[in-house]
Amino acid sequence: MTNTETRAATDSFDSAEHQARLHELYRDFEAAGMTPLWLTREGLMPFHPQPKAVPHLWRWADLLPLAARSAELVPVGRGGERRAISLGNPGLAGDPYTTPTLWAAIQYLAPREDAPEHRHTQSAFRFVLEGEGVWTVVDGDPVAMRRGDLLLTPGWAFHGHQNVSDAPMAWLDGLDIPLVAKTDQGFFEFGPDQVRNRATPDRSASERLWGHNPTSGEDALTTMRTEFHRLAAAAATRRSRTSASSVWQVFDGTGSVRLNDEEHPLERGDIVAVPAWTEFSLTAETQLDLFTFSDAPVFEKLNLLRTEIS
Ligand SMILES: [Fe+2]
Repeated sequence: MTNTETRAATDSFDSAEHQARLHELYRDFEAAGMTPLWLTREGLMPFHPQPKAVPHLWRWADLLPLAARSAELVPVGRGGERRAISLGNPGLAGDPYTTPTLWAAIQYLAPREDAPEHRHTQSAFRFVLEGEGVWTVVDGDPVAMRRGDLLLTPGWAFHGHQNVSDAPMAWLDGLDIPLVAKTDQGFFEFGPDQVRNRATPDRSASERLWGHNPTSGEDALTTMRTEFHRLAAAAATRRSRTSASSVWQVFDGTGSVRLNDEEHPLERGDIVAVPAWTEFSLTAETQLDLFTFSDAPVFEKLNLLRTEIS
């Protein structure tokens, strides 16, 4: 095509005839299930992650009484399986997800209650902020739950809970439910209605102090990284952002978290959702201990994980 012909073709893009033909083409694209990239590139391939999820903070002091109310009204049993109430991100309307890949919930077991055994492809852990008296039975191995404990239930391991005490107990559940749901990888199977091993040993047969898989050096769970962080009093972290999303819970102490341009005070039990590419930093007032889990192992394996520290 000569320069003159190119100019003529460009000029004709403004003609009424061109507009009518273009309209017809787009209508026929739609009917044929075709979408032109030139109209959708920005949304499909943004310059950096633009999560719908937003940074958000939940106060344990608000969650606990609501979970307790559900124990007065809702029994634990087969079908619903658990008295777990998930923390839905306000940016993910309609989905009960904490981030696009992670599901965090408060689970509550009343005195002498059992949560029936089941297994699923979703990986899970429990992190205990406070309380005791519950044992989680993982593939027949009873594991005591006490403040500071991290219990793993990897995908397809049978698990149930029993509260042998006269006090209720609540803890943080973390699962990769959204990741498994969006990728159509969900399988689920019922186990016994009551935990298969009612022993309550002080230590489980598989108790370990490792936070990772000692045979491979990789994360203990394949889809979630679990970490414990301690900041000295008055210490602050550098600002960072990563393409992984994460959830944090304050285990002990006070301080603050900065999420993009907003700063929030932190107290024991508070839970924070940090979507991908959120500018994030922590400042400790007292010594500050935090538990966190993220979807980093997934994106590391896919060679997608990107982190910036300023
Ligand atoms: Fe489960």
